Amino acid sequence: MTAIKAPPAPHGYSASMDAVADPFAALTDEHAELTRLFAYHQEALLDRDWPTAAGLLDGYRERLYRHMEIEERFVLDPAHVPAAGHQRWTAELYRAEHRRVRLYLEKVDEWLTRARHDGAPAGMLIGLLDRERTLKHLLEHHHHREEMALFADLRRSLPARLHAALGRALAESACAAP
Ligand SMILES: [Fe+2]
Ligand SMILES: [Fe+2]
Repeated sequence: MTAIKAPPAPHGYSASMDAVADPFAALTDEHAELTRLFAYHQEALLDRDWPTAAGLLDGYRERLYRHMEIEERFVLDPAHVPAAGHQRWTAELYRAEHRRVRLYLEKVDEWLTRARHDGAPAGMLIGLLDRERTLKHLLEHHHHREEMALFADLRRSLPARLHAALGRALAESACAAP
């Protein structure tokens, strides 16, 4: 297998104008882009190219954290996501999942650092991939639920002012991507 030496193209949507016009499509595209970035990290891991794997994980985390921070600022404000009973899942449920994602990602990062420090034996690589599988499953479910429920509902109900602010924040984030 050939190691990935450089990160892939960072933008899941072609231009910042796309994010302004349809921020929910941009958020959905960013989910796919994040999945792709994580796959590049795992390919480097399988090649045992530890410095590249660590660098790609750093870039992935930076991108994911920015994505979640924008969601929390604009679409996971309880004032704009109606309470349970009117909505399939509450803003708090999505925020709790973000906290779990951050926690798992920190565990993965710690394990990767330990594996490199210990000379990266095969057993530690397997342990790392196990932890990453848990993180991937958590994110797959989270992204799916956002796309099927949260974004679909907020396309109709998010106030125009917030819709525009979300688009601008995503466009700026796309421009800031490494
Ligand atoms: Fe999210
Ligand atoms: Fe998301």
